[in-house]
Amino acid sequence: MSKRLQAVRGMNDVLPERAALWQALEAAIREVLAEYGYQEIRLPLIERTELFSRSIGEVTDIVEKEMYTFPDRNGDSLALRPEGTAGCVRACVQHGLLHNQVQRLWYAGSMFRYERPQKGRYRQFYQVGAEAFGLPGPDVDAELILIGARLWRQLGLQSIALQINSLGVPEARSRYRAQLTDYLRSQFDALDGDSRRRLESNPLRVLDSKNPQLQPVLDAAPTMLDSLDQESRRHLDRLCRLLERAGLDYQINPRLVRGLDYYTRTVFEWVTTTLGAQGTVCAGGRYDGLVQQLGGSDTPAVGFAIGLDRMIDMLADQGHPGVATDPTIYVVSAGDEAQMEAQVLAETLRDRLPGLRVEQHCGGGSFKSQLRRADRRGARFAAIVGDREAAEATVTLKDLRADLPQETLSWEALLARLQPTANDVSVKE
Ligand code: HAM
Repeated sequence: MSKRLQAVRGMNDVLPERAALWQALEAAIREVLAEYGYQEIRLPLIERTELFSRSIGEVTDIVEKEMYTFPDRNGDSLALRPEGTAGCVRACVQHGLLHNQVQRLWYAGSMFRYERPQKGRYRQFYQVGAEAFGLPGPDVDAELILIGARLWRQLGLQSIALQINSLGVPEARSRYRAQLTDYLRSQFDALDGDSRRRLESNPLRVLDSKNPQLQPVLDAAPTMLDSLDQESRRHLDRLCRLLERAGLDYQINPRLVRGLDYYTRTVFEWVTTTLGAQGTVCAGGRYDGLVQQLGGSDTPAVGFAIGLDRMIDMLADQGHPGVATDPTIYVVSAGDEAQMEAQVLAETLRDRLPGLRVEQHCGGGSFKSQLRRADRRGARFAAIVGDREAAEATVTLKDLRADLPQETLSWEALLARLQPTANDVSVKE
């Protein structure tokens, strides 16, 4: 036998049973985003490498260590997108979508990062991102946070907590950076190797360290909040008031710095304790300088991305059933004539009751084996077409989930019987 090939490490197949959960999640997200007036934008999976180094930042883990970069045949350096914001900004600038216009956009799809795979962290993972352009105030920051909150409610997910912080404007941040670097240098002996390296290249990221031994040092570090410029302080205060008025709990986490360099002012993460180390299921913030940095006009912007793989783990843990995929009715037949009638019946059911899940048995076999198959497929009913039914234009209906006598019905009577089930297409019973 030839050698079997395996999927690339960190890149997962989603098998049909799980795909039902993905469909339910994606449908819920699409619905909520539409309710807030966000429009879909579809973006390429591959962009010029330069787009990511110029936006995410040269000295970030993503750009330094995690990008799938390769030369195109003409020598251009391309990369599989590690995130969606940069491509979204690139597309908006390229197509002139931001000239004195507000845009509320969303996108969905695979992102790629060469990280060490573990539960909740993969090399190909899925995000849905939402980005709002042209709105400078905290009102839209609050809107984006409320979208998340509504979605968790809709999906019945509890134990997702909101953390927010402000990174201020770039000038305030560079002042803070200098202050933090001085402090960390004074604590150099207590730092681990990773933090010592980051101290010079990206000191804010030291605050992100999960090393328990470092926590007392980090707890005592000066915080960005103390260095905030006045306007950013006002922005944060207003955002907090808006969240409170909306009845949302939040925690200000002065050590929330995010791993991408483009943020200004508001940053936030939705974190759950139920998934272990990889608990951030949604993250984002404001990036007022990025559009201009990528060649557009000065445009405020803010957004978030949801990590779908992690959301799926949460939904599965709490037993969410996903969208229904079991056939409502499974059509069986025996004999050439009956099989032809059965096919017409199946098509008629699909024509007249859109949304009804009708599976027709293919491949022949005895009634008994066909009915066994209907049962294994999880069908609610079996429609049986034998010689007698074919000749009379009737069908025998068998309820596979209740101990009731089977009935022979006209096709019209069958349609009437199935009518209430046809509309019940979204979620499994
Ligand atoms: P991010 O924090 O890099 O932000 O990613 C957002 C979310 O994607 C994370 O919170 C996590 O749920 C998920 N995620 C990230 N990496 C992985 C991975 N290796 N495996 C599984 N899930 C992962 C961004 O990407 C920004 N573009 C968000 C944003 C949009 N900011 C403004 N607009």
